[in-house]
Amino acid sequence: MQIAIVTVSDRASRGEYDDLSGPLIETWLARAITSPYKLTKRIIPDGFVSVRDELIDLCDQHRFDLILTTGGTGPAARDETPEAMRAVLIKELPGFGELLRRVSLDQTPTAILSRQTAGTRGHSLIINLPGNPASIRVCLDTIFSAVPYCLDLIG
Ligand code: MTE
Repeated sequence: MQIAIVTVSDRASRGEYDDLSGPLIETWLARAITSPYKLTKRIIPDGFVSVRDELIDLCDQHRFDLILTTGGTGPAARDETPEAMRAVLIKELPGFGELLRRVSLDQTPTAILSRQTAGTRGHSLIINLPGNPASIRVCLDTIFSAVPYCLDLIG
């Protein structure tokens, strides 16, 4: 299995602050997945073209099974991860975003601001997580049980 973690952040991509969410996802996966997998981490700027091109490259050229993004799902001008997802996904799986917002609202009322979604392109499953490092554990705990079955269905 090949997994990619894509941190979407202008400031982290410029080195203005450390990417905290990407490493937290990596640690969560290392605890949760018992079978061998290959992991790639990328840090890219916000914006439609940046996210779209990265996701298409990971799906079509490198054929990653699972791609977890973090960041760029909110309402700010540069938050365009959902717009890029709409351009990349062949099949949207809106249940991921619906469940994540519902569970995250127990943590913080601002979870309503996230436009995160998920879906498939070929044999790849792409799931958006919010950028806040504090959101990573609850989001992965919430959705990950559906991931292996989804990968089986699209594999
Ligand atoms: N979800 C959880 N679980 N925890 C959070 O702290 N932050 C919210 C929301 N979802 C948050 C959350 C906030 S403040 C925003 S603006 C949106 O996610 C979008 O964040 P992003 O643009 O970094 O993806």
